[in-house]
Amino acid sequence: MSKRRGKPPRIPQLGAHGLDDALHNYATEWSSSEPEGLAALRRATWTQTVKPQMLCDELQGRLLASVSCMVGPKRVLELGTFTGYATACLGEGLAPDGRIDTVDIDDELHDLHDAHWPTLGCAERIHRHVGRALDVLESGVLFREDQNLFDLVFIDADKANQRTYVDWAINHVRDGGWILVDNVLWWGEVLRVAAGTSDDPQAVRIHELNAHMKGHPALDNVLLPLRDGLHMAQRMPR
Ligand SMILES: C[S@@+](CC[C@H](N)C(=O)[O-])C[C@H]1O[C@@H](n2cnc3c(N)ncnc32)[C@H](O)[C@@H]1O
Repeated sequence: MSKRRGKPPRIPQLGAHGLDDALHNYATEWSSSEPEGLAALRRATWTQTVKPQMLCDELQGRLLASVSCMVGPKRVLELGTFTGYATACLGEGLAPDGRIDTVDIDDELHDLHDAHWPTLGCAERIHRHVGRALDVLESGVLFREDQNLFDLVFIDADKANQRTYVDWAINHVRDGGWILVDNVLWWGEVLRVAAGTSDDPQAVRIHELNAHMKGHPALDNVLLPLRDGLHMAQRMPR
């Protein structure tokens, strides 16, 4: 199999979203529409950033918002803020006295957050942290102002450390809380790893992460084939 650098491997029969395009478009059309404020942030992401494809799509955004509304979290942690689109989606079900901590290694998009978050309803409850996610997690800063465990953790930063982030989350999510991990299908390359026909290091790590989550006694998991794959796991009682 040829290796493509700089671009995720793809399964030829799938569309740009990793699903059949027509089904993806149908599902998007018959789901609640993206709120106008989020559509504006999507447009700004595509016109003002160099890697807009990192943005989650409308359907995934609506799913994150739905999960947030179902959980009604007081504490949310996001690893990988980017332009803050998913942050705002996760904020849709945030408790009135809740808070979102979001971490990114890059601080160049703060102006974009500041321009859009205030129109999206929870800006004053979002706390940004700049730095490598590993350093922020280890620093203890996330528990300085609030000692409660997280209700919901969304992992969407660098892919190399996903397993470390998941293991950290298992220890810092409350019983019954949720851990969500993005990009767990790696545009289909995990299929080839599972079949023994690919040794792509990133896909191998992701396949091992999926197996780790399925086999972990503290997790009840479901892997959704949405866009590039979203792994959802609930923390079992300690
Ligand atoms: C896929 S984007 C996040 C997208 C965002 N969650 C959304 O759906 O709108 C990944 C982000 O992770 C950040 N990132 C990459 N490596 C990181 C690291 N080691 N620690 C923290 N953030 C990192 C990047 O700067 C980028 O903004």
